[in-house]
Amino acid sequence: MTVSLIERFRDRLPVSAATPVVSLGEGSTPLLHAPRLSEKLGVDLWLKWEASNPTASYKDRGMTVAVSKALEDGARAVICASTGNTSASAAAYAARAGLTAVVLVAESAARGKLIQARALGARVLAVRGDFDAALLAARALADRGDHVLVNSLNPNRIAGQRTAVFEVVEELGAPPDAFVLPYGGGGNTTSYAKALGELGLDVPVHSVESADRPRTLASAIRIAEPAHAASVEASGANVHAVKDEEIVDAWLELARDEGLFCEPSSAAGLAYLRGTGELRGARVVVTVTGHGLKDPGAADFHAPPPIVVDPDPDAISRAAAG
Ligand code: F0G
Repeated sequence: MTVSLIERFRDRLPVSAATPVVSLGEGSTPLLHAPRLSEKLGVDLWLKWEASNPTASYKDRGMTVAVSKALEDGARAVICASTGNTSASAAAYAARAGLTAVVLVAESAARGKLIQARALGARVLAVRGDFDAALLAARALADRGDHVLVNSLNPNRIAGQRTAVFEVVEELGAPPDAFVLPYGGGGNTTSYAKALGELGLDVPVHSVESADRPRTLASAIRIAEPAHAASVEASGANVHAVKDEEIVDAWLELARDEGLFCEPSSAAGLAYLRGTGELRGARVVVTVTGHGLKDPGAADFHAPPPIVVDPDPDAISRAAAG
């Protein structure tokens, strides 16, 4: 039977026997060795494939804890602002818990994520403005007391997201030499740093942001003002910036060399790794945060369109050969 994240890590999470566990079978995601990219980049590369979480992003790790605790505390409704993945996750866990979810998404959120939140029965409000404006509004509304905020400003989210580090260290049998992950609002970087601190491990965290935060094509990390900037800085994480072209190249390479189709923002870590010699020879874990189907528009734009052929073996053979 599937072991929920809360069951697997119960002793390290802010839950008790009285907490109703709201689970969709999150966590315990694959840690995949990447032989081709390891060879190309001169590192021992491992990919933490977080798209295999129930709503196809790492957000579910924190959401199971946040929604379980909200239910325990007698909440009726949750609210979040989101570039898309948090809203899909909040919608799913709220549905599972029988709570109402109100999700505020930036008008520019990727289509697949919006469809998820809509289908899952959330009240989806597209805010005129960017993510930062939506987050301010969500916080203000949560302060009124009718909704529990389930953004990563909720400490239960951070607590749940620490478990990715626990899994990696447990499964490798030893800590890697470095963790590399995308940096949007900084909640995940904060979680990773916290987990490493608790384990007493001095492993560097490389946190990779867009060089053009307000406009990047990587819509999940299109955040001008990261809410966790201060804790990211205090954590000692190494922050790097990558350009959109580098993200797209890494994104295509991850798909074609290793078979992982992620959304563009999820390739930010690999984009940094491809452009640096700093980690040569190291065992590196790159977190791939969300699924490619979340943002079909990006794939439509950057991947070659299908070639139209007649159902004729000769024509197909010619077309297949390129
Ligand atoms: N990767 C994906 C797929 C994301 O959805 C996000 C954030 C990040 C990386 C960045 O992580 O914010 O913890 O530094 N998405 C948020 C959302 C902002 O609303 O879904 P972070």
